[in-house]
Amino acid sequence: MNRAVLFLFLSLWVMGNAQILPTPPMGWMTWNYFAENIHEKDIREMADAMVSSGMVEAGYRYIFIDDGWQGGRDNRNNIIPDQAKFPSGIKALADYLHSRGMKLGIYSDAAQLTCAGYTASYGFEEQDARTFASWGVDYLKYDYCGAPPDSNTAKIRYKAMADALKKSGREIALGVCEWGYRQPWHWAAQAGGQLWRTTGDVRDKWKNVDATRHPHQAGYGILDIVNDNAHLSAFAGPGRWNDMDMLVVGLYGKKGPSGDLGGTGCTDTEYQSQMSLWCMMASPLAATNDIRSMNETTKAILLNKEVIAINQDKLGKQAGRVVKSGPWHVFIKPLENGDTAVAILNESDQAEDYTLEFSSVGLRGLYQVRDLWSHQDLGNSGKWRGRINAHETKVFRLKKPDQ
Ligand code: GLA
Repeated sequence: MNRAVLFLFLSLWVMGNAQILPTPPMGWMTWNYFAENIHEKDIREMADAMVSSGMVEAGYRYIFIDDGWQGGRDNRNNIIPDQAKFPSGIKALADYLHSRGMKLGIYSDAAQLTCAGYTASYGFEEQDARTFASWGVDYLKYDYCGAPPDSNTAKIRYKAMADALKKSGREIALGVCEWGYRQPWHWAAQAGGQLWRTTGDVRDKWKNVDATRHPHQAGYGILDIVNDNAHLSAFAGPGRWNDMDMLVVGLYGKKGPSGDLGGTGCTDTEYQSQMSLWCMMASPLAATNDIRSMNETTKAILLNKEVIAINQDKLGKQAGRVVKSGPWHVFIKPLENGDTAVAILNESDQAEDYTLEFSSVGLRGLYQVRDLWSHQDLGNSGKWRGRINAHETKVFRLKKPDQ
């Protein structure tokens, strides 16, 4: 094969794979709020609230049904929903969402049973993929509880489901959920996934305070996930995202899975930091608060269109962490139109002053600086100087002034 032909094949391969989820998926996921107690009525109400609150218009198009929807298999081994939770069936729900410009995600696991002990898809990949396609499902979160620990088996099991989805006749994105244990950033895209969790489950807390135990045991807070994900920017791009797990914004210590392992809630400043850093790091955005009753602060955080635009930027770069010094983290994300997003996090427990000389992080000359949380233009400058509250993240958009 000569080089031109090889290049053509490679480009077609890359294009073919990049078409699914060219930007990180956004939506609302059932797990942190309802856990297994899900019901189609609540999900429809949530979908209505997603439309009326402006979430859908802002880009949150998916409802991701998580674990607990399954009702076993019928006498032909077709997976079926729990009749009490989904009396109208999953297809009716998918139709309801599609008619509102939304999409449906569903959940299964690469073993016999899911993490919460429900029927899963191992050995039934093609049959289940066909069922999901026939219901109009658009996304599958594929978990890994109950499966063997080695990486090789994980690659094989995820590829089996990815191949089954490709053959299903419908475009269904695949989210890999093995919690980063087997470094999926090295293999999950090749196996056919569009995103992969990089850590254990997020809890509704700022950080792990138990120095004697790893967050895998003691529970991941927002800051723990930021630290685990910060070195993975090289692996992200259109159609291949590092998934930092669900947003806990607006949960305020609600009990349930996010409330386990010290998840007693965060401050609004901490929730704003989660939104800022998940957007900077091009993570999928899955809100989990009750959209039907969210307060104005939660709305302002989840619906900040200027920050969402950083997440959804078509260049698809994950911000790199260019400063990690004392309490300070500085992240930089190049954007499609040549602008640069810059985020500064103060992880200390007090407000502190900071000066960022842009040239010190490779951004030379003057920039028009816009603060994406105060929505103010700060004028042309070669630096930013100011006070940042405890656990706060500032996000700026830097544009080269017209020459
Ligand atoms: C695992 C996943 C969670 C959630 C639960 C459901 O813990 O990591 O995100 O899907 O299973 O049982």
